[in-house]
Amino acid sequence: MSNRGSFSNKLGFILAAAGSAVGLGNIWSFPFEVGAGGGAAFLLVYLFFCFILCFPVMVTEIAIGRKTQLNPAGAYEALGFKKWRILGLPGIISGVVILSFYNVVAGWAFGFFIELLTGHFEIGSQFSTFIKDVFKVGLYAMVFMFATAFIVSKGVSGGIERASKILMPTLITMILGLVVYSLTLDHAFEGIKFYLVPDFSELTLSVMGNAMGQAFFSLSLGMGALITYGSYVGKNDNIVTSAAFITLADVGIAFIAGLMMFPMVAYLTDGTMEGAGQGAGLIFTVLPGAFESLGPLLGVVIGSLFFLLLSFAALTSTVSLLEVPVAYIVDEKKIKRNRAVWIMATIIFVLGIPSLLSNGYSGFFSSFITYVGAENATSFMDFAQNVANDTFLPLGGCLISIFAAYAWKTKNLNEEIALGYPNYMGSFIQKYLNFAVTILCPLVLGTMFLLTL
Ligand code: PFF
Repeated sequence: MSNRGSFSNKLGFILAAAGSAVGLGNIWSFPFEVGAGGGAAFLLVYLFFCFILCFPVMVTEIAIGRKTQLNPAGAYEALGFKKWRILGLPGIISGVVILSFYNVVAGWAFGFFIELLTGHFEIGSQFSTFIKDVFKVGLYAMVFMFATAFIVSKGVSGGIERASKILMPTLITMILGLVVYSLTLDHAFEGIKFYLVPDFSELTLSVMGNAMGQAFFSLSLGMGALITYGSYVGKNDNIVTSAAFITLADVGIAFIAGLMMFPMVAYLTDGTMEGAGQGAGLIFTVLPGAFESLGPLLGVVIGSLFFLLLSFAALTSTVSLLEVPVAYIVDEKKIKRNRAVWIMATIIFVLGIPSLLSNGYSGFFSSFITYVGAENATSFMDFAQNVANDTFLPLGGCLISIFAAYAWKTKNLNEEIALGYPNYMGSFIQKYLNFAVTILCPLVLGTMFLLTL
């Protein structure tokens, strides 16, 4: 156990798991996915997936982790199902793939902190040039991966989790302040309408698939991150209330990030909302202009602090992403933790190079896939993101449910949950969780997987 580090108490786990969940997914990808998915219709599907389908998967992951005290692959085997072991692997691979591109975006956020600190508000309109500068952005990404590896290797994530107790509320307060500000901007109403009044004609299968992938990504589910973290939860802790807290916090933060963004988009586009669907650049192109409008001094303070706190939120997520493959090789290959960390961090950084190059620097990676008949090519980074988030994570969630219901059995799942939840047996939540893992999740997630293939 000492080789793996541990949380000192229940709060430690909740902070770490919330730190893992809250990150670029809430503030960077949620708004751009809503924008690309046509607004409120996406939001509704997203909420459905978070509360109805992801929540049971979260409880299950944490329960498996606490029961087995192992990494995902080892966990399936430890429960007596050697052939299910293979299920852990897609999770570990998703972790590696996600971190490879996530780290690049974290580098952008960190770079924007430095740009805004020097009052360079034009960076928003120069975003496409900024991400093409692979040496600069690569350096930021390298710094970020180094920081992540350092924290994981020292096993000091407890320290950053505790720091996040101050920093996260600061970020949330800032976003709330910006929500109030953006509601005062011209055309704010059009932005809110786009975000909150659904137009169901926008609801295609691919939008639903993206909403599902975004829900899993944002909640850090489907790859066993919470199996790994669950191995650190105390037997007397209530997994259900912990999972509910993490889900509510994560969804809440994404929701207010949307309230902040869309009035700003409306303001900048005179209410047409054109460009809301531009993709990964959304927050980076929109926010600097909004910060500039706060005036030179306030703009620098709020703007740089915002991106600094965003980088910090990303760091508590990259730490959890790196932890998954590291815990795997520490447990399975009996490599020393320290070595495992630096080896994995180096491999993942190298695997992120195509993503780094795919934002205009290399023609090959920038239009990696050109769909027949489509005028827009998909970059390598978008491709990696789509495959990992929209296909692998929900598939992972589906398989975890199937495993829990049909191999491990709901009886054992229930017993594990009940350890820290005295009135659990026979409660509504028990019935719902059992229905979800045995029928709802396998059916819906499995069908979505086949349809989106
Ligand atoms: N949930 C993180 C975010 O929203 O930024 C990303 C993430 C972290 C995904 C850890 C998966 C994971 F295991």
